[in-house]
Amino acid sequence: MEQFRYESGQLHCEGMAVDALAAEYGIPLYIYSKAALLGRFEAIRKAFAEAAPIIAFSVKSCSNIGILKVLQEAGSGFDIVSGGELARVLKAGGDPRKVVFAGVAKADDEIRDALDNDILMLNVESEAELDNIQNIAAEMGTVAPVALRLNPDVDARTPNAKTTTGKKENKFGIDLMTASRIIKNIALSPNIRLLGVDIHLGSPVNSTGPYKEALNKLADFIRDHRSPRSQLEYLDIGGGFGLLYRDETVPTFQEYAEAVLPFVKKTGCKLILEPGRSIAGNSSILVSQVRYLKDNGTKHFTIVDAGMNDLIRPAMYDSYHFIWPTKSTRTPPSHLFGAADAPEYIAREAADAAGGGGREMQPDGLIVTDVVGPICESSDVFAKGRRLPVVNRGQNLAIFSAGAYGFSMSSQYNSHPRPAEVLVDGETARIIRHRETYDCLMRGEELL
Ligand code: LLP
Repeated sequence: MEQFRYESGQLHCEGMAVDALAAEYGIPLYIYSKAALLGRFEAIRKAFAEAAPIIAFSVKSCSNIGILKVLQEAGSGFDIVSGGELARVLKAGGDPRKVVFAGVAKADDEIRDALDNDILMLNVESEAELDNIQNIAAEMGTVAPVALRLNPDVDARTPNAKTTTGKKENKFGIDLMTASRIIKNIALSPNIRLLGVDIHLGSPVNSTGPYKEALNKLADFIRDHRSPRSQLEYLDIGGGFGLLYRDETVPTFQEYAEAVLPFVKKTGCKLILEPGRSIAGNSSILVSQVRYLKDNGTKHFTIVDAGMNDLIRPAMYDSYHFIWPTKSTRTPPSHLFGAADAPEYIAREAADAAGGGGREMQPDGLIVTDVVGPICESSDVFAKGRRLPVVNRGQNLAIFSAGAYGFSMSSQYNSHPRPAEVLVDGETARIIRHRETYDCLMRGEELL
């Protein structure tokens, strides 16, 4: 987070003042820090250096080709889940030999495309999919490299149940019994080359326990199923490394590595990681302008121009994103800024949520307000009962930790053109996606 900091009362991204960027590129605006992206990528590489893993950045978390190019140049591979994501990776100059392709419903065209482009492996999620890949590879006269995505039936204890993927009630992966049968019969699929096994437990996995639990099962599984026809040389542990949004205790990359590496050693596998959130999440903010303030006698609302169409996480998962004005002389009371009063601020928020807070100025000089967007849905709320400094119409707010599953999950709902995306590198900023226009909203539509 050190790439986002307040200097002379102004929020900066690296060497650029955020308000100046907002004035130049308009609002709402996604601002990414190149140094933050690379810093996180390098930190993962360093923590896992002993295993020299393929770090396959999870494209779904942040899919702009400008971002993918930055990571590709740093040596990143990519975890994809669609033909569209493969197209993005190739456009960004990504190396297909470092691409892994997951997803429960891969289309025939997507499979052909992946094989044509010689990606490292398809992470297969069912027996039916494996049969289909066998048929397609036979038709193409090729051999398809695959890993089996195993469902270890481990609870990743994600903050929101919607993002847990490694339990048997989830649609993802193949249960170990079925996987065992598949491997024993692999000779019946001559156009399949079984390269390894894969898991993805959920996102975020804010402790190392679930990895250990799953890898324990996998290590035994690998030991029991190695044969000349199934060398199982790759162990792909998926994504899920946590991110500090509020006050979570998130293991360091070092701690994740300490949990994972013994299993890598034990199995002798090559390691693949698929981090998304932990690289992109705190590498970007969404800047939004205050349009109106409203007090209905019960509640105070800060109405901003960005909406759930731009950042859906609070509406969809009740996710917490720290919000603070881009102009402020006070250190934002957040762990993101290492602020000493962060615990106190968070405790007051909890008290406010329980009904103790008010709309009036609080003794700490903050008011209690709901930060809401323009979309015609009651769920279009970024923050409920949040303490904020008094702001005026026209002032900008920064919504932090917006880089992962922010823009990539955005939509044009309510016919709002999507915001621009800008990548800051030191003292320069480059547009990596232009703000959409009304023409973009209607592209492909026909008047009959
Ligand atoms: N690999 C696979 C197969 C995945 O499904 C995912 C994320 C990742 C890697 C990357 O996980 P990460 O390192 O980012 O935790 N939209 C939700 C998160 C959904 C995650 C989907 N899969 C959110 O905004 O919290």
